[in-house]
Formats: sequence, C-alpha cells, structure tokens
Amino acid sequence: MTLLDIFPSLRTTMTPRLDPALWPVTTSHDDRGRISIGGVALDDIADQYGTPTYVLDEADVRHRCRTYRAAFPEAEIAYAGKALLIRAVADWITREGLSLDVCSAGELAIALSAGVDPRRIILHGNAKSATELRTAVDAGVGRIVVDSLTEIRLLASVAPRRQKVMIRVTPGIDIHGHHAVTTGVDDQKFGFPLSHNQTGEAARLVLEQPNLQLVGLHCHLGSQIADVECFRSAIARLVGQMAYIRSDHGVILTTLDIGGGHAVPYRPGDPQTDPAELAALVDDALDEACARNRFPRPQIVLEPGRAVVARAGVTLYRVVSIKTIPGGRTFVSVDGGMSDNPRVALYGARYDAAVANRHPTGRHTPMTVVGRFCEAGDILAVDVSLPVDLHPGDVIAVPCTGAYHHSLASSYNGVGRPPIVAVRNGNVRELVRRESVADLMGREIGI
Ligand code: LLP
Repeated sequence: MTLLDIFPSLRTTMTPRLDPALWPVTTSHDDRGRISIGGVALDDIADQYGTPTYVLDEADVRHRCRTYRAAFPEAEIAYAGKALLIRAVADWITREGLSLDVCSAGELAIALSAGVDPRRIILHGNAKSATELRTAVDAGVGRIVVDSLTEIRLLASVAPRRQKVMIRVTPGIDIHGHHAVTTGVDDQKFGFPLSHNQTGEAARLVLEQPNLQLVGLHCHLGSQIADVECFRSAIARLVGQMAYIRSDHGVILTTLDIGGGHAVPYRPGDPQTDPAELAALVDDALDEACARNRFPRPQIVLEPGRAVVARAGVTLYRVVSIKTIPGGRTFVSVDGGMSDNPRVALYGARYDAAVANRHPTGRHTPMTVVGRFCEAGDILAVDVSLPVDLHPGDVIAVPCTGAYHHSLASSYNGVGRPPIVAVRNGNVRELVRRESVADLMGREIGI
C-alpha cells in the first residue's frame, strides 16, 4: 500500500513533474521554481518577446541528430525540413552530419541561404513545377525524388546535366495512423504503386532519359509510426523491386530511402520510436531481403522530421481568462491557438501543458486550454492538469511543439505568426521575428 492509497487526496495536491520524454533535454526549474530551458527561464522569454512565442532548444535538436547518427553510423540521415525549416535549424542539422529533404523552391532557398551543400539536399513533392525543378537542377541538388511519369519527362527536359533521381514508391503498407498522414498505401496521391508494375514502368522511363541517373527507390509510409515492424515489410518489398529492376534492365540501384515518420510522444505515456531499435530492425530486414534476392546491400537513407525537432520546441502562451461552465469544463483561454498550432483541429492531436512562470504549489485539476480564434474547435490541450489558482497573466508552456507548428502556422483572424527564439547555455536569441500587422497589410496591393 502506498501513501497515495492511504491519502487519495494527495493525487490532486501533488505538483505533476514534467515528463522528460516530452520536454527538451535541457529542461529544469530555476531557484524560483520557474521552468527553464537551455538555462533561460521561460517566464523571462515571455516578458522579453511577448506571447505566443516558439522556444527552440538548440541542444535538444543536436542531441536528436547525434542519437540518429550513433544508431545509424552507416546510413544517411536526411532531416525532413517540412517539420521546421529555418536557417538556424538547417545549420545545426548539417553541422551534426545530417543531410536535408526539401519539398519546395522556398525550402530550397532557405537551405541554400544557410549554406547547406546542395549535393546533400533531396527534393520531394508530388506536384513540383517546371520552375521548381529547374531551380533545383540549376542549384545542383543531389537527388530528386520523382513522383509521376509526367514529372520524369519534365525533369528530363529541364536538366542541363546528369541528374540523380530516386523513384517514390508506395509499397502498399498501411501504418493504421491518421488518414491524413498515411502515405504508404496504394490509393493515395504519392508515388508509384508496386502493383501493376507501375514502379517498373517509371524505372524504364527514367532509364530511357540520357540525362537522368536512377540511383534508388524511396518510400514514406506515414507519420507517428510507433510500431517499426512496417519498415521490415517496406524494405522487403522495395529490395524485391530493386531486384526486378536489375533483372529487367541490368541496373543495380544503390540507394534505398525508407522515409521518415518516427513517432514522438505528445502526452505522458505516448509511444515513441527508439532509433536504436529501428536500426536493429532495418539491419535485420536488409540482411533478410538482400539474401533472399541475392542483391547487394544498398545505402539506407532515413528522413526523420518530427523526431529531430518536435521535442526541442515549447510554445509559450499567456492566460487571458478562465471560466468554468456549470456542469461542464473549465476553459483556460490563452493568447494563441489554432493559428500557431493547427494540429489539434487537423489531426485531433493531444497535448500536455504546464504553468511556466512560477512553482504551482496548490491543488491541480483538469482544465482545457483553448485559443483566441473564432472557432469552438480552437483547442490546444484537453483535460490537462493545471493548478486551481491559475490566473490571467500566468504563462502556460506547451511542450513538443517544435515540429509542424511554425511550418503549419497561419495568420488566421489577422493574427501574425509568433517569433521563434533559440535558447542555448543561458542565452536566448531571436531567430524569426513576430509577424506584425504591417507584415500582413504589406501584402495587400490593391483595393
Ligand atoms: N519524408 C517525406 C517524403 C515526408 O513526406 C515526410 C512528412 C517526412 C519524410 C517526415 O515525416 P516525419 O518524420 O516528420 O513524420 N503535418 C503533419 C505531418 C505531415 C508529414 C508530411 N510528410 C503533422 O503535423 O502531424
């Protein structure tokens, strides 16, 4: 029997500890009990930069990169920039030995301006324009992942010199996740299905183009994949396809890109992908598939996005008002919401939240943190444990907001996007400034 069994009321009086699985690696409490990251109190950041603000822990990003490099010493880790691409992140990940995926001319421009070697860039997208393809080949982008027969012809027509190409394949694998991020099944917009020899057809067309060099196959099964077994099937099917391409065309592809999609926890107890476990499985699956097909071991490429930056990010909000609906919930309204975090509305994502500006000693109770936007679905965190003495002006921190927050943000309701500040060794610096009303109005050029 524990103390909690004897005094059940203690359950609500205890201050919940921050779950280290969710918060950046440098998270601690300062001597006043305030949450601090990278040696900087979040409360001071809220005062200095206002709210909402995205805080990014540089040490956490670098730590995730190193963990991947250590788990996969022989593979190429290409960070998927769509999770969060700003120049600082491009710089950190390349210095940590990662390469980079981009999916538009805009992301490519950010990467190049951060000094990323174009040969270490992979370009994705199911509807790249001729201008985007031309910009990419002119910049010397290392590999382009082709997604349709039309694109193969277009690329061949714009590439001035030999361009390395991978073919995006849909291996017919369902990760049983949210439908919006399930991309390995046949009947969706990405890639060429393995069925009906569509991938074989794409390979033939690429190989017919003298200025395209087919180096490998690519697949991306989806996002938030906690059960890594599906990567075993993907490797088996793609290596099988590489063996077909060898027998049909006498060409040995050397690269096998198995995409990203590794899970991170958003709430305590959520599952996460362990890079070491994934590495062991990939190794095993490759041994098996290559032996079965008598195929030489290809170079593996992985494309984690979320798993590199999600946990480095914390978003700060200030409490505006609190109301309890009789017989209903207690709603905490804050000064941000679905424009800086549309993931709840888009995917039903669930988040945690904590008071950051003081050590809350009082009793805790479930509350729902909601945003300032004009929709009832503008929710940030459902049923999170917050102190009953929470009051307007308190700073709320939402962890695990480094991936697909800034990159998905909008200026809905005429509210500008938040700034991004980086913390490191007790210092804070602004990487992206807040979007102002002048920025929003500056785009309007007529009436
Ligand atoms: N590679 C490709 C080709 C991708 O399309 C993606 C993500 C990734 C890699 C990286 O996936 P990750 O490791 O980050 O799961 N907005 C959604 C996620 C969309 C993912 C799109 N593609 C969300 O907020 O959950």
